Amino acid sequence: MEIKVFNNEAEIGEFAGKLYVDYVNANPDCVLGFATGASPVPTYDYIAKSCAEGLVSLKNVSTFNLDEYCDLPKDHKNSYFTFMCENLFSKTDINMANVDFLDGNADPDEESARYAKAIAAKGGIDIQLLGIGRNGHIAFNEPSDEFTDEAWKVTLTQSTIDANSIYFDDIPMPRSAITMGIGSIMRSKKIILIATGESKADAVKKMIKGEVTPQVPASILQQHSDVLVLLDTAAASLL
Ligand code: PGA
Repeated sequence: MEIKVFNNEAEIGEFAGKLYVDYVNANPDCVLGFATGASPVPTYDYIAKSCAEGLVSLKNVSTFNLDEYCDLPKDHKNSYFTFMCENLFSKTDINMANVDFLDGNADPDEESARYAKAIAAKGGIDIQLLGIGRNGHIAFNEPSDEFTDEAWKVTLTQSTIDANSIYFDDIPMPRSAITMGIGSIMRSKKIILIATGESKADAVKKMIKGEVTPQVPASILQQHSDVLVLLDTAAASLL
């Protein structure tokens, strides 16, 4: 794992955003795996700004996303699809026909098979962006007794519900989601993980220095050959 520590999230966004702009300019038809949550927002802002300034085009880029809530309409204001549209897609020239998303209202097994096939048909994910949960989850792969493989339907833990329910002011937060599995994430050619804030410090330490265990899903990244971890000083404070 390559680890870089920055003063704040704005610096991370600029560094990661520039990395994406350079990569897309060199590989205009690349396949990007995106993530939702607060951590990637400064990076998305940088990419969107670069697109608006004509410094990069996402027109031929294909994208996949890590996860989606179950039992929530795709266009609900709290769906992850809406999050990506608002924070990135609508601010770029991306071709929405090249945007693939897990369907939280589909049959989970059929949807998992469809997604795996769709990713393989594009030649795999070139760069997968990740955040990390306070409990060490990546995507919605919560601590458990085994590492998952392809996308699957997960019951969310209380830690995740506590962290995300602040975003739900009209309806109760869904209690389940469909998420890319650990295997699908690990098959990405490159992984960039962003973590900021003191609340992530313990999970970051376990991910980097702890034993590889499904109780800390992010620890599996120690076994990937190309992982870039971008931290602010608070998230790096226990290293
Ligand atoms: P966050 O979420 O970026 O909103 O902190 C990350 C995660 O829970 O994976």
